[in-house]
Amino acid sequence: MRRTVFASVFASVVALTAVTSAYAGGGGFLPPTPHSPNAHRIQHDFIFVSIFCGIIFLIVEGVLVAFIVKYRRGKRPRTAEGPQIHGSTRLEVLWTVAPVFLLAAIGVFIFWELPGIANAPKASAADSTTIQIEGHQYYWLFRYPNGAISIDRMIAPANQVVHEEVIGLDFDVNHSWWIPELGGKYDAIPGKINKTWFKAPVGTYVARCSELCGLQHALMTAEVDVVPRAEYDKFISTRATSTGAAALGKEEFTGVCEKCHRLDHVYVGPALGGNSLLANRKGIESLLRNGEGQMPAVAKNWTSAQIDALISYTKQFATASTG
Ligand code: CUA
Repeated sequence: MRRTVFASVFASVVALTAVTSAYAGGGGFLPPTPHSPNAHRIQHDFIFVSIFCGIIFLIVEGVLVAFIVKYRRGKRPRTAEGPQIHGSTRLEVLWTVAPVFLLAAIGVFIFWELPGIANAPKASAADSTTIQIEGHQYYWLFRYPNGAISIDRMIAPANQVVHEEVIGLDFDVNHSWWIPELGGKYDAIPGKINKTWFKAPVGTYVARCSELCGLQHALMTAEVDVVPRAEYDKFISTRATSTGAAALGKEEFTGVCEKCHRLDHVYVGPALGGNSLLANRKGIESLLRNGEGQMPAVAKNWTSAQIDALISYTKQFATASTG
């Protein structure tokens, strides 16, 4: 009876695990398909280490289960003791030497892959670009070489080396920048610019904050749009114009304000619709630069132009009905 219960619980756990990993797609237990050379190398490392872990898991669990069955108590009295064995030179040498070889194999492989993960390929200035990535509660701000800015949506040129400079601000908390398909995680911490890179084909990739940074951490995602170089150049030059400012204002509202506020109802913070502050340049600037109560200083390092862009978008909501 007990055995039947145990077997059915075990089978259910196995089935549930399999369903979960199948549902997750992309192999379930595997990282998402890599689209950048460094991400490929991270996946090689992952698979290499997983093979060893898998073999060790099977051996250890296999022996454990075999011993449970073979040496079960059966009819022997509860107090019976097994043979006391002390000192087996052969075994001790084996379980010391085998892990040394395993760790050496893993170490050599990882250190051999590492330079290709950390170091960007050599590329001329014309074939590469540098984008600064700032982590804020709870949005990502991207700065392009010409001074253009975007929020929660990063545009990057395809098939070229994109240098990423991940920046943390001393008035904010720590975050961690991660595009799973394009490389590893890099911390956004004050006082140090963490540099990484990718080189990816045209496509849309998801980035996310991978360090618990507060209440809305889970919403701190960004879209990385990798587009042909001409389209990227056009985007950043348009972004620097007044047309671009209107688009930026909208991104600021959805990416920054709407992480915690809604127009028509209380969310993390109060409802915003109909609030005269949305049209009050001075008032909104002071609030956003300094924060208030639970609200962080979301715009402490913004330029005036960024504040202007936001208010020219939000003023329409200052008198809008809150229905
Ligand atoms: Cu930022 Cu989590």
